[in-house]
Amino acid sequence: MNAIEIKNLVKTYRTGTKALKGVDLTVADGDFFALLGANGAGKTTIIGILTGLVTKSQGSVKIFGHSIDTDFEAAKKCIGVVPQEFNFNMFEQVQDIVVNQAGYFGIDYKIALKDSQEILKRVGLWEKRKAMARTLSGGMKRRLMIARGLIHHPRMLILDEPTAGVDVELRHGMWKYLSEINASGTTILLTTHYLEEVEQMCRKCAIIKEGEIVRLDSVRNLLRTIPQDTYRVTVKEMLSLEGVRAYNPVQIDEHTLDIEIQKREELNELILKLAQSGFVITDFHPKGNRLEKLFLEILRK
Ligand SMILES: Nc1ncnc2c1ncn2[C@@H]1O[C@H](COP(=O)(O)OP(=O)(O)OP(=O)(O)O)[C@@H](O)[C@H]1O
Ligand SMILES: [Mg+2]
Repeated sequence: MNAIEIKNLVKTYRTGTKALKGVDLTVADGDFFALLGANGAGKTTIIGILTGLVTKSQGSVKIFGHSIDTDFEAAKKCIGVVPQEFNFNMFEQVQDIVVNQAGYFGIDYKIALKDSQEILKRVGLWEKRKAMARTLSGGMKRRLMIARGLIHHPRMLILDEPTAGVDVELRHGMWKYLSEINASGTTILLTTHYLEEVEQMCRKCAIIKEGEIVRLDSVRNLLRTIPQDTYRVTVKEMLSLEGVRAYNPVQIDEHTLDIEIQKREELNELILKLAQSGFVITDFHPKGNRLEKLFLEILRK
């Protein structure tokens, strides 16, 4: 069974904006799926429809087999949502926010209290359980949103830009945490503008442009279709580039080179050739994010 089955989904807002123009999208149970797209592409609209906040104009949506038209309550139970904006009561205590959410799903208070302990420990907020939400840092607030989204043990967690504005260290912590949740069987769908995030965590990704899916593939395949990789190499001393001509070297300054390779497998050979030409490498790193290149290319077309 699939976690999400969207067929010919159309959304025209009352303003006349055609936000979705016939989207087909399937997310397998257990998948870790990213929705990518520029501002206004339609990502939040899709999430809005999945979670019942936006009414669709046309098409069908099934969540774990439950149609949102005929079986919305059952569909809703399968989903935990983490919206982009903080929308909890800032004057409530952390644990109360999580426990009260369980009430909306008809979960017994005692069970909710017990489960909230485990979840708050897992997101690293147990020490803060009695704190008023407004006293949390931005990153803690975001983790509180995730804890709240998980209290009814949803089969799928949907996150709209979960790491927007989160600092690098915390973002890495969240990647790890989300990967753990996924590994324990929860399907994850997220939107993000950070392509590194997709490379690190996600298995599949759809690129959406002006209300249409323009690319849908495994992240691995997408990365494979990216023709070349540029590396920035810092050398102790600039020498003849004859031996590495095949890699289209571009000299940036007297210590810096940009070099292209077609496949990661060529890296070893490239380094060997540089060494054979007498270069002493003092630094070596990929220039820019690979997926980023592809993404920009698709959006430009
Ligand atoms: N409530 C609304 N009423 C009218 N138009 C809307 C509404 N919500 C979104 N839109 C329009 O629908 C289109 C898609 O918006 P959506 O919020 O789905 O984009 P997005 O991909 O989530 O963008 P972002 O990356 O900026 O969050 C945009 O043109 C937007 O202006
Ligand atoms: Mg959005």
